[in-house]
Amino acid sequence: MSRADPPSSPEESEIALALLRWYVEMGADEAIDTEPARRFRPPQVDEDPPAVPIVAREPVPRGIAAAPPAALAESLGEAAQSARRLAAGAADLDALAAAVAGFEGCALKRTATNTVFADGNPTGPVMIIGEGPGADEDRIGRPFVGRAGQLLDRMLAAIGLDRSSVLITNVVYWRPPGNRTPTAAEIASCLPFVLRHIALVQPKVLVLAGGTAVGALLPQGQGITRLRGRWFDLAVPGLDWPVPTLPMFHPSFLLRTPERKREAWRDLLSLRARLDELQSDSGENSRREDARQPGAE
Ligand code: URA
Repeated sequence: MSRADPPSSPEESEIALALLRWYVEMGADEAIDTEPARRFRPPQVDEDPPAVPIVAREPVPRGIAAAPPAALAESLGEAAQSARRLAAGAADLDALAAAVAGFEGCALKRTATNTVFADGNPTGPVMIIGEGPGADEDRIGRPFVGRAGQLLDRMLAAIGLDRSSVLITNVVYWRPPGNRTPTAAEIASCLPFVLRHIALVQPKVLVLAGGTAVGALLPQGQGITRLRGRWFDLAVPGLDWPVPTLPMFHPSFLLRTPERKREAWRDLLSLRARLDELQSDSGENSRREDARQPGAE
């Protein structure tokens, strides 16, 4: 590994520090290149040509530098196919978690520290799907444990829910570097696992936190601002009934845009009302069942 030259002047150190601060503010808290890049080196003037001639590398033939679209599409297709096969073969949640942990078809896995599968109670009535792990989630291996997760916990507590009544996961299981939005290919490679997860958990209601989860699971093609607060019936392969699904703002968005919390509160109340309704329906049904038992008055 080569070492970066130290800054040659206080001014250069200042510039390097400002750049570093900017990277951190933009969410880039890891260096994933194997070699540091020295971006402030003044252009080299070739006054004294080196004694040993530098052998020019062979030019890379055109068309090989980037993967040709057909090959790329093939490998993405293979990843999705392999994900579908693995997901379909998972008979229970432990098998699904193991299949995700062993899956090599999502490029995000190469830069992540941990696979972040799920947290909470898979027998609870609510399943929440977010976007993807951030730095804290990647370090700890559990979803929604950072600032956004703490806000999510407070939002849930406001309507009497917590991680004992809710299962939380994401549309991708590995942290996108620098917290960027996962690409369509990354989401597509994980989607068969996400759908199988919903089918195995059979939640009473599904909450999609943020535009990325909405884009991955709802076919409406509209943004979160238009879709939030509306209930959708999501058809999930392997389930004979649609899952009532509520898009909501992502807690990270609410941290950046607190004035939208009023709408989030309305959506939380709608979630609470739907759960109460489902609970009173199931109470009603079990009373009817009891009344049908032999010997009942
Ligand atoms: N944001 C998400 O979408 N998921 C997490 O797990 C954490 C933050």
